This record gives sequence, C-alpha cells and structure tokens, in this order.
Amino acid sequence: MIAPHPSAPAAPARTVRKAVVPAAGLGTRFLPATKATPKEMLPVVDKPAIQYVVEEAAAAGLDDVLMVTGRHKRAIEDHFDHAFELEQALTAKGDTVRLDAVRDPARLASIHHIRQGEPLGLGHAVLCARRHVGDQPFAVLLGDDLIDPRETLLSRMLGVRDRRLGSVVALMEVPPEQIHRYGCAAVEPAGEEDVVRVTGLVEKPARQHAPSRYAVIGRYVLDPAVFSVLERTPPGRGGEIQLTDALQELAAGGTVHGVVFKGLRHDTGDKADYLRTVVRLACERPDLGPEFVAWLRRFLGELDGARPGRRDVAA
Ligand code: UTP
Repeated sequence: MIAPHPSAPAAPARTVRKAVVPAAGLGTRFLPATKATPKEMLPVVDKPAIQYVVEEAAAAGLDDVLMVTGRHKRAIEDHFDHAFELEQALTAKGDTVRLDAVRDPARLASIHHIRQGEPLGLGHAVLCARRHVGDQPFAVLLGDDLIDPRETLLSRMLGVRDRRLGSVVALMEVPPEQIHRYGCAAVEPAGEEDVVRVTGLVEKPARQHAPSRYAVIGRYVLDPAVFSVLERTPPGRGGEIQLTDALQELAAGGTVHGVVFKGLRHDTGDKADYLRTVVRLACERPDLGPEFVAWLRRFLGELDGARPGRRDVAA
C-alpha cells in the first residue's frame, strides 16, 4: 500500500479514486525536442511536466494513476519507478534532499501504465483505460496541461461529480481569437457561480461557429458511460477519435456539467506557453527565484537598451 502524498488532504470519502493521464500524443508542436522524448517529460524548472500533473491528482486524493503512453513509454515508466543505482549512490553520499527528489515520483500514487498502440486521438487514449478503470467514475488529467498547485480545480470538479453525477469538464474563458485551438462548450446556468450545465460541445470551432468563449481545458471527471460512447465514436476532426465528440453525445443527454476555472493554467505542449511557465515557476521558487528574478530584471533592462523605444518586453 502506497502512503498518501504529504500534500494530500485528509482523504475525503470520494467515489472517484482513479486518474488517467493520457501521454501518448505525438507532440508535433514541440519538435524536434519531442522526437525521442515525450513532451510530458520536458522539464519545467527541474521536474518533468507530468510529475506536476500526478502531484495534482495525488493532492486531490486520487491514489491510483494510469498513464496512457505511446512509443516513448520507457522515459515515463522509469521516472515513476525506483532508480536503485541513483538511490544507492545518493544514500552513500548522505544526500537526503536529492534522494527524496528521486524517490518522490514513485511515492505519489500507485502508478500503472498502458500503451496506446497508435495515437488515434485523445478519445481513443481514454478508451484504452477502460479495463483498468472498470465501471467507476474517473478523472482524466492531460499530461502537458499544468494547473497551478495552489488551485483546487480538480477537488472542486470531484465535488460537483459527487453531487450531480454524470461527467464534469473544466472550462476556461478565452479570447474569441483563441477558441479555435480548443474544444468549445455551449452552456446554460446551473445555479452555482462557477458551475454550468454543458448543452453542447464542438472541437476546435472556427471563431464564427463557436457557441461560446468557454474552452475545455485538460481536466475531466468522467462517468464510465463515456466508454460505450467512445467505442462507437468515429474519427472526427484531424482524423482522430475525439473525446469532445463523445462528450457531445453525453451533453445532449443532459449529463455533463462544467466548472469554470479562473486561475492559472499552462499548456506546456505549446512552445511559448512552456517558456512562460518555466520562467514563472522559476521566479516563484524560494531556492532559485531571488537570483533568477534579479538576473531577469537586468536582462530585460538590456533588451530595452538594445531596442530603443521598446517598452513592452515584460508583457
Ligand atoms: P494534443 O492535442 O496536445 O496532441 O493532445 P499531441 O499530438 O499530443 O500534440 P501536438 O498537437 O502534435 O503538439 C492532448 C493530450 O492527449 C494526449 C496527448 O499526449 C496530450 O496529453 N493524446 C493525444 C494521447 O494520449 N493520444 C493521442 O492519440 C492523442
């Protein structure tokens, strides 16, 4: 039995215990870095992105995590396993801080792996989890989507699922010119400030066809009913089996809610957002921040000096 992660709250009596982390995408936006390394393993300061995601699941009380991996399975599997040689070397040196850093990933939860033979889409990746998940509701956390650790989005979503049943998606309002990058939800009020009923979903709509400015972001709590829908969902946009298309069918049946998230979220699969994430988190780190921020200020000053009239470098 795995001990609960230190940041996990006193375990609430939840119906959802399992998390699925799809990490089998091709990561083409981040080539060539992702040629031999999954984008979920790219370091954000000194931890791979996917570790933040598993920490978030553990903090919400989910102690069973299934990774859906693709051709780069080894790197992810090794990261969440023990590393005996490293551990022995650090133990011999008495370096307990680094020893903990090496051991932490394997202690977060009971971690399982399954392979998605071909990257046929996010919907197909979720379907690969069916046998492991069984007939229980479960959470899905995209392995390249980071939610600030101070936020409680996932716990909030789990609470909404417990009260309202069905499935719950995370929504974020985005500018109209960005909606074509996301699944987009048509919504109506549901009697709570941050909760809406989702009446329809469309994957990556053109701005003029978007039913709202609510983008679906990488956190879901899904009813197991999604599996039988996914099984008969044909490839949609981009020739991929889209989770959004299956959720659209569930939404039409009135069983999908959305939690509107207003906090910090980072898409580390996008180069520009990845860079912003690394800089932000480095600035906030007590061990690195002070020196890094001082350097950053000097660097921005140099940029300003080098480009007369340019005042927006910090924007
Ligand atoms: P993305 O839409 O970011 O696609 O997937 P991608 O292929 O990974 O990356 P780009 O767009 O080519 O750069 C969203 C999430 O779904 C997973 C990805 O790993 C990511 O966490 N995914 C996607 C799968 O697990 N399998 C798939 O077949 C597709």
